[in-house]
Amino acid sequence: MNFKQSLLVVATLIFMISCTESKKEPEALKYVEEPHSYAQPNEAVITHLNLDIDVNFDKEVISGSANYNIDNNNANEIILDAKNLVIEKVQADGKDTKFSLGSYDESLGQPLKIEITPETKKITVFYQTTDKTEAVQWLNPQQTADKKHPFLFTQGQAILTRTWIPIQDSPQIRITYDATVRVPKDLMAVMSAENPKEKTADGVYNFKMVQKIPPYLMALAVGDIAYKPVSNRTGVYAENSMVDAVQDEFSEMEKMMVEAEKLYGKYAWDQFDVIVLPPSFPFGGMENPRLTFATPTLIAGDKSLTSVVAHELAHSWSGNLVTNTTWDDFWLNEGFTVYFENRIMEALYGKDRANMLGLIARQDLDEEVEGFKETPEMTHLKLDLKGKNPDDGMNSIAYDKGFLFLKTLEELVGREKFDVFLKNYFQSNAFSTMTTERFVEYLNKNLLEKHQITFNTDEWIYNPGVPSNAFEIKSDKFEKVKQTIADIMKSNKADKEVAKDWTTQEWVYFIRNFPEDITPDQMAIIDNAFDLTNSTNSHKAMVWYEQAIKHDYRGNDVDQKIEEFLIKVGRRWYVSTLYKAYAGADKVDEGMAIYKKARQNYHSVTANTIDGVLGYNK
Ligand code: BES
Ligand code: ZN
Repeated sequence: MNFKQSLLVVATLIFMISCTESKKEPEALKYVEEPHSYAQPNEAVITHLNLDIDVNFDKEVISGSANYNIDNNNANEIILDAKNLVIEKVQADGKDTKFSLGSYDESLGQPLKIEITPETKKITVFYQTTDKTEAVQWLNPQQTADKKHPFLFTQGQAILTRTWIPIQDSPQIRITYDATVRVPKDLMAVMSAENPKEKTADGVYNFKMVQKIPPYLMALAVGDIAYKPVSNRTGVYAENSMVDAVQDEFSEMEKMMVEAEKLYGKYAWDQFDVIVLPPSFPFGGMENPRLTFATPTLIAGDKSLTSVVAHELAHSWSGNLVTNTTWDDFWLNEGFTVYFENRIMEALYGKDRANMLGLIARQDLDEEVEGFKETPEMTHLKLDLKGKNPDDGMNSIAYDKGFLFLKTLEELVGREKFDVFLKNYFQSNAFSTMTTERFVEYLNKNLLEKHQITFNTDEWIYNPGVPSNAFEIKSDKFEKVKQTIADIMKSNKADKEVAKDWTTQEWVYFIRNFPEDITPDQMAIIDNAFDLTNSTNSHKAMVWYEQAIKHDYRGNDVDQKIEEFLIKVGRRWYVSTLYKAYAGADKVDEGMAIYKKARQNYHSVTANTIDGVLGYNK
C-alpha cells in the first residue's frame, strides 16, 4: 500500500466511524416514567441491598441501616422512596453526606434525596420505623395461635416496602440482598430469602437472596415458629400448635411444583416454602419469593382451599420472574397467575375442579363489571393509576378478566401452541419486567402472526367490560347445584343427602346463587339441613355470612359467629365482602359496631379498605 492508498484507507475509516457515530440512536432509557415512585433510576439505581436491623418488640420499632450498591450514571443525587420513617444519617461511600426529605404525599410518602458524586458506589441510610409504618403489623400474643409470644410480619405489595426500608420502590427495579436481623432470643426470623430451619441461640439471623427481585417482594416475619419439610425443596413454617396441620394441608406442594415446571420451565428460586401467619394477615397469600406468606383461613382440614398455594406458586413465574413494569400492568402479574393456578389445579385434580374454579371467577368478574357501571375504565386490563394509590385501583378485574383473556386465547389457538408460547415468554423475559404494550407486541409476533390468527387483543386490554368472544366455561357439577337450589325453593325442604359429596366449590356456588328474594325462613331450612353457620371451612362460612347479612337471616346465633369471624380474621377479601354486605343491606350501623371492635386487629391495608367501605373516620 502506498502513501496515497493508506491515506484513503484512513480517510474511509474516519468517514465510517463518524457515520456510525452520527447514526447511533440516543440510548433508550432503561426505565420508564413511573407514577408511584420518586426514584430516578436512569440517573442512579440501587443494585444490591445489605440490610442490618434490630427488631424491638417492646418499642415496636425496627432500626438499623440499609446499605446499597448503586449503578451510578454520572449522577450528583440519588433518590429513594421513604414513608413515615425517621432518617437519622446518610453516608456515601462511608462518609456522611447531605440528604433531604421532600414533601409528603398521602400514598407515595416522600422522596429521600441523597447527595452523591459521579464516583459514588455505595450509600448507607441509618433509619428507624415509626408507629405509622404501614407495612409492618406488630401482634401481641393474644393475636397469635399459641398466645405466648408476640409476632410480626410485613406486607410490601404494592408500595409499602418504603414504609419499613428506605428504597427505590418501583417494580421495574431489581436487587439482590443480604440481611442481618436481630430478634428476641425465643423467636425466629424468616425472609423472602434463604431461610433458617431452626432457631439460633442468640436471635441473630443472616439471610441471602441471590436472585434479583423487585422491592415489593422484600418481606420479613418474626415469631415463635417451627419448620416442617414437605419435600426436599418445599416445606412449611407455622406456630407450633399448627405446624403439623399445615404440613398435612399443604402436602401436595411438591406435586404442584412438578406440574408447574412441566408447564412453564424450571422453578427459578430453588426453595418453595409457605409460612402460615396469624389470622390478621390481610391476604389469602402473598408470593414473597422462596417463602409465600399465607392466611391460616386456608387450613380447612381437607386440602380444599389449596388453590391459593397453587396461585402463589404460579407467581414464581408470573410476577416474580416476569414482573409488571408499573402497577398499571398489574394484570400481567395476576391474570397470568390465575390462569396458571387453574392449570395447576386441573393437572392435580382434573377438569371438573378447574371448570368450577373458572366459573366462580367468571361470576366474580360479571359482578365486578356490574359494580363498575359508573366507572367503566376501571374494567380495562391496562389501568391508569396515576394520582391514585395503586392499592385502590387493584380489584378482581386484573385477576378474572386477565384469566378469561388467556383462557379464550388458549381455546382459540389450542393448548399445545399456547403452552409453547407461554413457556417461551417466561424463559425469554426471566428476571426482567414487562409492560402491557411490549406483551402485545410479543403476542402478535410469537403467537398470532406466527399462526395467522386474528384476535381482538386491543378490545380485551384497552376497552371496558367482557368482549363477546369470551370463552364460555361450563360445569356440569354447577348445573346440578343450580337444580338443587331450585328444588329447595320449590319444596321448602332441604335434604342433606344431595350435598354429601360436594366440594367447597360446589358449596360456594350453591350459597352464592340463592335467589334474590330468598326469605329468612328458607335460609333457616337450609341452615338446619347443612349447618352452614357452624361451617369450619372459612370460604363456605364467609359466603354464608354474606347471605345472612344480605337477607336478614339471624338464626343459629349467626350474628355472634359473624362478629367473632370479623374480629379474628383480617383477610381483606373476606372481611370486605362482609362489610360491603352490611353497607349494601342498609345496615352500616351494625357493620360499624363490629368494626369498632375489630379494627385494631387489622393490618393497615385491610383497615384502609374497610374505612372506605363503611365511611369510618379515623
Ligand atoms: N399478590 C397478591 C396479593 C396482593 C395483591 C397484595 C395486590 C397487594 C396488592 C396475591 O398473590 C393474591 O392475589 N392473593 C389472593 C389469593 C388469590 C388466590 C386470588 C388473596 O389474597 O385473596
Ligand atoms: Zn396473586
